[in-house]
Amino acid sequence: MKAYQISGPGATPAFAPMPRPALKAGEIRIRTRACGLNFADLLMIEGKYQDTPQTPFTLGMEVAGEVLEIGPGVTGFAPGDRVAGFPGQGGLAPEVCVAASRCLPLPANMAYDTAAAFQVAYGTSHLALDHKARLQPGETLFVTGAAGGVGLTAVEIGKRMGARIIASARGADKLEIARAAGADHLIDSDSPDLRGQLKALGGIDVMYDSVGGPGFLEALRATRPEGRLLAIGFAGGEVPQVPANLLLVKNLSVMGLYWGGYLAFRPEVLTASLQTLAAWIAEGHLRPHIGARFPLDRAAEALEMLRARKSTGKIVVTVD
Ligand SMILES: NC(=O)c1ccc[n+]([C@@H]2O[C@H](COP(=O)([O-])OP(=O)(O)OC[C@H]3O[C@@H](n4cnc5c(N)ncnc54)[C@H](OP(=O)(O)O)[C@@H]3O)[C@@H](O)[C@H]2O)c1
Repeated sequence: MKAYQISGPGATPAFAPMPRPALKAGEIRIRTRACGLNFADLLMIEGKYQDTPQTPFTLGMEVAGEVLEIGPGVTGFAPGDRVAGFPGQGGLAPEVCVAASRCLPLPANMAYDTAAAFQVAYGTSHLALDHKARLQPGETLFVTGAAGGVGLTAVEIGKRMGARIIASARGADKLEIARAAGADHLIDSDSPDLRGQLKALGGIDVMYDSVGGPGFLEALRATRPEGRLLAIGFAGGEVPQVPANLLLVKNLSVMGLYWGGYLAFRPEVLTASLQTLAAWIAEGHLRPHIGARFPLDRAAEALEMLRARKSTGKIVVTVD
């Protein structure tokens, strides 16, 4: 089969023939129907992601499709089942083998593209806002990169949890997408004086930051006592440095959240979170936003759209 691969360190991704992946004990073989792209795919191409696999490897962290085959020791899945899975790599290919513990059965009414766009983005925002920051109804949540993959889900989930949402994104079109997802106040990320704008809106209790850079400290200075600041990602390329004295004076907490990390050290937290989210989607409380779909042979274009900040919500690659 042909897979979208990185052949060696620093190599440009390209389609390459590869044998069907071997199915190991505890795994299921999925016939890939859709693969959700993530900013982490771009970081993997540059070798900068914390979990970049050894080359050669196939890009594509999260998928949805049908079970083709189950490996020794797997229970609860059967060939033909519709599933979503998080292999972490290998999704941009017609088949991928995934640990059964990283797969979820799909509700009959959930399309493959929706399922492939769901796990990382919603999972990250739910764990961050609920499990880590304990966001409360009536609190004010500030979300950066609010029209992006994880940011948009933070707007939706924060709203579902009863918070008032301030969203920042670049340009009117992206801000409108954040507004439609539930944002109450909008700030263009290119406009000056973020701190002053947040203070004029009464300050914030929780910040969900997937962008990094100087905005983190500006928002910190507009955070109310006992506020929580979530470091989710650094899409802008700059990791904020936080002066501890500011945390002390205002009784603030800065928290890191790495969704993939929970797979290894507390998978039960992650499973419970995904089950809650699946129920919210089934009840119609969340509306996954797929900004663009590309067929597998246009994977390079899909990744370029993500890199150029032209995407909104998630980009999904479909596999026929
Ligand atoms: N901690 C976790 O478990 C976890 C999970 C998933 C993702 N992440 C991280 O969260 C960040 C966002 O991931 P994503 O998949 O949501 O990506 P995405 O869809 O590309 O969204 C990133 C957003 O960041 C903004 N941005 C600002 N400066 C940018 C720059 N120089 N380059 C690109 N984007 C820039 C863009 O919004 P504007 O154009 O509106 O500014 C864009 O919408 C990444 O750093 C990723 O690694 C972390």
